[in-house]
Order: sequence, then structure tokens, then C-alpha cells
Amino acid sequence: MNNYVQVTKLTKSYDGMEKPLFNGLSFSLDDSAVISGVSGSGKSTLLQIIAGLDSSDSGEIKILGKDITKINKEDLNQFRKNYLGFVYQFHHLLNDFTAVENVMLPLQVNGMSHAESYIAAKKIINEVGLGDRLNHFPNQLSGGERQRIAICRAIIHKPKLIFADEPTGNLDKKNSQLVMQLLFKLVKVNGIKIILVTHDQSILKKFKNRFLIIDGKLKKC
Ligand SMILES: Nc1ncnc2c1ncn2[C@@H]1O[C@H](COP(=O)(O)OP(=O)(O)OP(=O)(O)O)[C@@H](O)[C@H]1O
Ligand SMILES: [Mg+2]
Repeated sequence: MNNYVQVTKLTKSYDGMEKPLFNGLSFSLDDSAVISGVSGSGKSTLLQIIAGLDSSDSGEIKILGKDITKINKEDLNQFRKNYLGFVYQFHHLLNDFTAVENVMLPLQVNGMSHAESYIAAKKIINEVGLGDRLNHFPNQLSGGERQRIAICRAIIHKPKLIFADEPTGNLDKKNSQLVMQLLFKLVKVNGIKIILVTHDQSILKKFKNRFLIIDGKLKKC
């Protein structure tokens, strides 16, 4: 697959905006990439749109070769469950589920048995150093621990592409480094591409493919 992401003439406005957030944005990505830009420039919106979590007004959005604007909701959900993962700034873990149950979910929705998904979730949680936190609920974990669990959940089903929206935006420097190291390691070991939004210069430097969103356009930098 040459182009993981191919966006053509994307437009998007929210009600009440003076001018569209995106008005004919086109770009393609053939490798992992990092995106930065000032607050309100549209980073989260763009990530949500290309991850199939928000809709565009018009344009073509091909992810792993599939135009996600032309498939029905059910097929889009299936596509996301099979091939995509998402990590948010705030973990978005389910509070009524334990760490291991949260990580098992993407496997279970893909049809894996409870026993098998438990074994796989336990293994990856061990790998991120949280083997003694399996049965903790999210509110019993620290911010850094929650993000490590959220990363496990985004990666457990071995997606081809993961999106991460300021995954360390809420963490101190030490935890931020730990979380990023884990994220990079898991992505590399499993051959997953990542599209990451961050303001952190030390993380930006780790990517060859760097983009700035400015005035609704992506500029290589
Ligand atoms: N659901 C929504 N309804 C209306 N306006 C929205 C909605 N979501 C985002 N916006 C607006 O779209 C613009 C882009 O928002 P977005 O969250 O994509 O910015 P961002 O670059 O991720 O900012 P930050 O760095 O603060 O996270 C902002 O002006 C925001 O107010
Ligand atoms: Mg944002």
C-alpha cells in the first residue's frame, strides 16, 4: 500500500463559522506522519474525519485504499474495527470496565472469544508494565497508566493505521516520554503506521513526515 491516506478536495464547516475550516484540502500520506498547528486550526477535526469518526461536507477520503465517504455506516464501522485504532488526549476508557476488559473489547467486537481476548489483553498489558493493574478500573489508575491502557486498547487488534490526538497532552514530561516510547515500540513491532497530532517538539523531531495545519491547508515542515 503506497498511500495510507489520500484526501481529495475535502471541505468541512461547522454551523456559525465565518469561513470553512477546510475548503478543498488535498493531501496524501505514504508513511507515518505528525501534524501540529495552533489551537482551533482543525487538527482534531481532520483526524476524526480521516478516522471515520466525523463526517466531511464533501470530498474523497481514501484510507488504506478505501473511500470511506462512499461506504455505509455498517461497513465503515467494520472497516474501523478491523483496520484502525484511535488514541485520544483524554483516555476515553470505559469507566465501568476494568483495564483488562477495556483492552479486550476491540477483540471481542471482532468476534474473538472471551478466553482468547483475555489472554491477548493480559499479554499486551504486561508488555506495557501494568500487569499488576489488570483488574483496576480507570479511576483507580494514574493519568499515565490510563494512557498506556488506552494505547493497548488502540493496538490490541493489530490495526494497520492508528490515529493519536495529543496522546500525551495531559501528562507530565516523564509519563509523556514513557507513553511515547511504548507507542513507538508497539507501532514498530506490529508494523503499524501512525498519524499523530502533537505540539511537543521532542516528539515532532522523531518523524520524517511533519505537517503544519495552517488556514485549512497542510504544509510540510
Ligand atoms: N462539533 C463542533 N461544532 C462546532 N464547532 C466545532 C466543533 N468541533 C470543532 N469545532 C470548531 O472547529 C475548529 C477546529 O477545532 P479542532 O478541535 O479541530 O481544533 P484543534 O486544532 O484540534 O485545536 P486544539 O489544539 O485546541 O485541540 C474550532 O474553531 C472549533 O471551535
Ligand atoms: Mg484538538
